[in-house]
Amino acid sequence: MERNDIIKEHDNLSERKVEEHENSLEDASTNLRCSPAADSVVYETNSMDDDESTPVSKKAKLERDPLPTEANERVASISTSTGSLSASVQEQEDDDDHEKEDLSSTDDSSDQSDGTESHDDEEQDPNEESDQKDSSSSEEDFDGDEQVPLDSEQLDLDNDEDEEDASLFRRIIAAAAANGIPLEYLAAHGIQLPIEDDEPVEYPFGEAPTSLDDVANFIQSDRCKRILCLTGAGMSVASGIPDFRSSNGLYATLNATKLTATEEQIEAIEENPSFSLDQHLFMENPLPCLEVNREFILGVQERKWKATLAHRFIELLQTKTNGGKGKLVRLYTQNIDGLEDQCIGIGHERRIAVHGSMDEAECANCNAKMDFDHFCGLVRSQIKDITGQDPSAPKESSAIACESCGRNTVKPSIVLFRSKLPDVFFNSVPIDVKDIDLLIIMGTSLAVAPANSIVWRIPKSAMRVLINRERVGWHLGLDFQSNDRDFLASGNCENVALDLMEKLGWLEDLRPLLDSNELPESSALLLRQRLEELEQKPSPKQDQNPNDKSLQQQET
Ligand code: OAD
Repeated sequence: MERNDIIKEHDNLSERKVEEHENSLEDASTNLRCSPAADSVVYETNSMDDDESTPVSKKAKLERDPLPTEANERVASISTSTGSLSASVQEQEDDDDHEKEDLSSTDDSSDQSDGTESHDDEEQDPNEESDQKDSSSSEEDFDGDEQVPLDSEQLDLDNDEDEEDASLFRRIIAAAAANGIPLEYLAAHGIQLPIEDDEPVEYPFGEAPTSLDDVANFIQSDRCKRILCLTGAGMSVASGIPDFRSSNGLYATLNATKLTATEEQIEAIEENPSFSLDQHLFMENPLPCLEVNREFILGVQERKWKATLAHRFIELLQTKTNGGKGKLVRLYTQNIDGLEDQCIGIGHERRIAVHGSMDEAECANCNAKMDFDHFCGLVRSQIKDITGQDPSAPKESSAIACESCGRNTVKPSIVLFRSKLPDVFFNSVPIDVKDIDLLIIMGTSLAVAPANSIVWRIPKSAMRVLINRERVGWHLGLDFQSNDRDFLASGNCENVALDLMEKLGWLEDLRPLLDSNELPESSALLLRQRLEELEQKPSPKQDQNPNDKSLQQQET
């Protein structure tokens, strides 16, 4: 495809949407302060390089900063003419050079810290070792060339002879246009997309899924053998834990001025609230992280929250399919609340807590564990309550010293930004993604890498179902308009999970949870109402819908 055709294609596809995006580009630039891309690269920089001391990459720095307001003009010039995105990227990088200085204090501080290396040596969860078959190749796998950074080299449109690049580029711009994303945005934010070749794919699910019935039918069919789940904070919202990036989420509601931090640190957190959970900041000043998490840590200790219907759906995916042997290959959860553990049917070995868990404590410097209850006692008495709800909390915070090395670096065993994910993640993903038939993504913005890479690492024949309040994942290739395999169940996790479980005929399996009071109040109410509605409906024999029938026939 010629360059002009490519550009035309983008123009045609985007005609409807680009105009409104150009108008809102300035707003978008503000939002990017806590943008998905920022988090994503912060993670990739360290975990992929496997080098804790690697400074934040140029792209990462770039992505922490808003698009310049004159970007509109450059979008226009890109779409109309001879220019290539490489020019635009170069321009952006030049802009970035002076910004480097602003952020260098963060990097410097990390370099001074001697604690960052310790996370490299993090031990595997012994319970999960049995799943590690070929750990030597997995990191390499993650660095593989399936992931394509949009840099100047790849976007040299003058190289008409390189058909592969042209084909890749065509896909990228088509996806961007379909989602209303200006090219400038892609180039400036180092968006990464998988390469997909043009080979036709035979889908095990046949026709493209267009309804929850289709999804339910596929789950029950023999053609669906291996299911993977990727979950995030939206899964636990019904239990009372806020997510991170919604307007009422942790980041938007965080009042950085209440944190015990320097002016510079407060400014950085105001600009990008996820910086409060940054490893390098923690080693320099552990108090913001502990203050942000105080309520969460103590809530976990008090077992304040209950697994939701969405969690129970994943449990039943294992216990109710394949004649009880289960189809759930793995649940990758980004959540640190440990609610999956309440669903014993999922099985501990089948659950990977990608970002660690809140119910243990350890030293970020020497890795020594601290008894969790002891840690909670210290959090209660030494860390101030920035929410102002606990009158017994101290007025000032003081850091928690490690009993082993003496440094003030004890924290919950969660993965902070710019620190490494557990080895079990890198060891398991390459094995788990093979031959997957269905990926269920629930309650996540897919903003954070490398967890989000699962979306494009599964086979391209696999169905991908997103259950979320908002449409996300375009930057990973999820395309609910054009891809036959992608299905969006837009809405609340609890409602969609309930609908799906009803279609699968699993609601009666949940009834005991009502009796034992194991569901969050709002979830229990939803379930109770649904069960009552079903009781009032005519029996299936009198009024059976064809989908239900096929489900019953397929159920083993
Ligand atoms: P986010 O807060 O980024 O995304 C939650 C997603 O769930 C958003 O797209 C919401 O619209 C959606 N959502 C919220 N409530 C929902 C509900 N009841 N039903 C359906 N959808 C709902 O949370 P994560 O994607 O989990 O890392 O964030 C990923 C990581 O970023 C977290 O693990 C955390 C964070 O910084 C660490 O702290 C290490």
